[in-house]
Amino acid sequence: MIVGVAERKPRKRTYLMCAPEFFTVGYAINPWMDPGTTVDVELAVKQWTRLRETLVDLGHTVHVMQAQPGLPDMVFAANGAFSVEGVVYGARFRHPQRSAEADHHKAFYAEQKSWRFVAPTEVNEGEGDFAYLPGRLGGLVLAGHGFRTDLRAHAEVQVVLGRAVLSLQLTDPRFYHLDVALAALDDHTITYYPGAFAEPTRQILRNAFPDAVVADEEDALAFGLNLISDGKHAVLNSEATGLAAKLRAAGYEPVPVELSELKKGGGSVRCCIAELRG
Ligand code: ARG
Repeated sequence: MIVGVAERKPRKRTYLMCAPEFFTVGYAINPWMDPGTTVDVELAVKQWTRLRETLVDLGHTVHVMQAQPGLPDMVFAANGAFSVEGVVYGARFRHPQRSAEADHHKAFYAEQKSWRFVAPTEVNEGEGDFAYLPGRLGGLVLAGHGFRTDLRAHAEVQVVLGRAVLSLQLTDPRFYHLDVALAALDDHTITYYPGAFAEPTRQILRNAFPDAVVADEEDALAFGLNLISDGKHAVLNSEATGLAAKLRAAGYEPVPVELSELKKGGGSVRCCIAELRG
């Protein structure tokens, strides 16, 4: 007997990206970064361009913000802010090497007019540590802490956005942002690697998301969880073949992309993309 899986429906999205024109690995702020390594910028731009085209081909709108010299990690646009229904909670970076990125993101939203931008008091790295599930509790923010985003920012984002926040504790330094350990697949479903989280958090995730696609260490190390999904298509790192198969079995359509150069900075697909929820 063939047991059918739920039919997954895509929803059109608007994204923000920033080209890796000035990408280098000159400092180390996560375990993936080796300042001795050389980076092929041309290849990085080529792979990034393919990612942008993939999103456009899937029918999404992609805005591109101007890269800035001296800010090599700006390609990881997910970290610049977190928006829900027209309200933007700005980022405040943990490390001084990245702090200037926040103002460039703020300027992007200011130009767009329709956004209400709220400057943060607490340290937080935008969508690197915040995921959003519009279909749970009238809009649920999943919020990571432990390495970058301060727990106090979870309380702040709840007040700014008026949405419930579920705090999740990260404990493995290789998975220093929530978006390398967990991803939203649609409005209410997630995929995650339990080993990246503290035991009480694992229990919370098990109880809250019995329908989650559970990933293993190999999936996580291949940056598979650093994916972006429109509800049907899950665009993910091509090395994450194991997770791609699990997603397919759950009814999603994996769309693999190669991002080997950016992996040297400790990031992949999701890190390069901020979702603009207008
Ligand atoms: N080198 C960057 C950092 O350590 C990578 C950020 C990756 N971004 C992400 N959303 N996980 O800050």
